[in-house]
Amino acid sequence: MSKLSLSTISPLIIQSEIRSMSVECDRVGGINLAQGICDTEAPSFVVEQAMAAIREGHNIYTRLDGIAALRQAIGAKLLRHNAIAADPDTEILVTAGATGAFYAACLALLNPGDEVLVFEPFYGYHLSTLTSLRMVPVVVPLAAPDFELDPALLRQAITPRTRAIVLNTPSNPSGKVFSLAELQIIANIAIEHDLFVFCDEIYEYFLFDGARHISLATLPGMAERTITISGFSKTFSITGWRVGYLTASSRWIPSIGYFHDLTYICSPAPLQHGAAAGLLKLSQSFYEGLSTEYQQKRDQLCAALRAAGLTPFVPAGAYYVLADSSRIPGTTAPQKARNLLAATGVASVAGSAFFAEGRGDNLLRFCFGKRPHDLDRACAALQTL
Ligand SMILES: Cc1ncc(COP(=O)(O)O)c(C=O)c1O
Repeated sequence: MSKLSLSTISPLIIQSEIRSMSVECDRVGGINLAQGICDTEAPSFVVEQAMAAIREGHNIYTRLDGIAALRQAIGAKLLRHNAIAADPDTEILVTAGATGAFYAACLALLNPGDEVLVFEPFYGYHLSTLTSLRMVPVVVPLAAPDFELDPALLRQAITPRTRAIVLNTPSNPSGKVFSLAELQIIANIAIEHDLFVFCDEIYEYFLFDGARHISLATLPGMAERTITISGFSKTFSITGWRVGYLTASSRWIPSIGYFHDLTYICSPAPLQHGAAAGLLKLSQSFYEGLSTEYQQKRDQLCAALRAAGLTPFVPAGAYYVLADSSRIPGTTAPQKARNLLAATGVASVAGSAFFAEGRGDNLLRFCFGKRPHDLDRACAALQTL
């Protein structure tokens, strides 16, 4: 047999359904509510400061853990907003987005064959990253319509090979915000079984109807075992900049930083300056404004979906909504997504992209991180269904 072949895991990493819907949407000139690209305006101050940094010559590699100004600004923000006390010199790592943070943390802390619990519906990158690194994702379903945590299911999924849990709150795609009681259950189980928890909090500022974001790392006994991941892609609408971070115990940071350096070297230098300036300058009202703005967008999209007969599971956070697609022709979710695109010009993502095999076929995910004009057009187009 020829040695010129794909690796054994390559066929398991299927091209993200989200990207393929975006390609299809561009082909037919549709309105893209598929990808979470959040094409709303970035704060102009952040953009100006990044451009100034380029002109001032901040165009070379930074330290592998990021520029001091950004680590310090993140440290202050973590204390203020998350009640996490992190030393900017030893407990914070600036990364190439939350994606780079998760990848490097998995490489540094997990071994091939380790089982990692992932709540379903899940964010596909979490699963695919684990699979690509030869770890074994184990899916723990959360029950619709509220996607409540069932402690018995979580316990059942644990085996002697379980090393970690992945938590995403607020969650993509369900918009679930884990309650303190649920976080306490996860913390108890993590402590009892001596597990790491990778906590992806990238949507921490997108909260609706008074929902409260709690960082798992602040629960007793969790600081050392929690890797808290977040970033600026969503908050500052700069998904293409690739600036994120993680905070963890100083026991883990050097190794995670080393693996991040191997893959990315650093997050783009001038863009780190832009993000730092934004963190320092933007006041609480900017962050509160995000929740207000996105709650309106959520309500607008949910109303349009309801009117179109696609009953939404109204999210408490993030900027996606899962909707019941039973009335759209097709037997699989990808077929339904394509049929909806053909009928209305609105691109969504097949729900099956967020569930284990055989589930999610009657769901579609719509993103409302969109400019008002595009959201208006999409909502109007859905009415033609
Ligand atoms: C849950 C979740 N984590 C991480 C990311 C990616 O974040 P970043 O752009 O910081 O890599 C996304 C983007 O859609 C996401 O939904």
